[in-house]
Amino acid sequence: MNKFLAIALLGVAGFGVAAALPAPVDVPVPARASGEVLEQSMETLNGALKGLMKGGISAETKDKSLDTLVRMQSAIVAAKSEKPHDLSAEELVGYRAMMADMLGLTCKIEVATLQGKFDDANKLVKEELTRFKKEGHDKYQKEEEHGDHK
Ligand code: HEM
Repeated sequence: MNKFLAIALLGVAGFGVAAALPAPVDVPVPARASGEVLEQSMETLNGALKGLMKGGISAETKDKSLDTLVRMQSAIVAAKSEKPHDLSAEELVGYRAMMADMLGLTCKIEVATLQGKFDDANKLVKEELTRFKKEGHDKYQKEEEHGDHK
């Protein structure tokens, strides 16, 4: 069977089952655990940063590094609309702006990598990306959240 038709039929069948069930008025919809997206994004950033620092960006690691940068960008996009703990409205603006700037930096590293300017790319990772990590945490991570990640 055509793959798309099969998926469409499954969707229709699923809708039929859902429509037949009584509305779950008394059952609260499980909320996403607060901070979960941010935590996952940060773990992704951490693994990615370690990978870029360890392997370095070079002609050999170019494709892998580009993949890593895209994963970082997705993680930053997810993290920047989160609200870490109880930041004030003003702090939240600063938090989001710093995230957006970090996203811009990953794009700069991406362009340098695409153009084969590996020295530039590595310099941006070592000097600027690590600075974002430190400054972001100094400013926006709560004291008790500061583990060995700082
Ligand atoms: C390459 C840059 C960064 C790396 C590798 C990184 C890594 C991490 C790691 C590993 C954690 C601990 C996550 C956990 O709880 O398991 C964390 C937490 C956190 N980071 Fe980052 N981070 C980076 C940049 C930033 C920036 C720029 C900001 C702010 C603008 C930021 C804000 C936070 C906050 C608020 C938490 C606490 C999250 C929570 O509620 O659990 N991080 N980060």
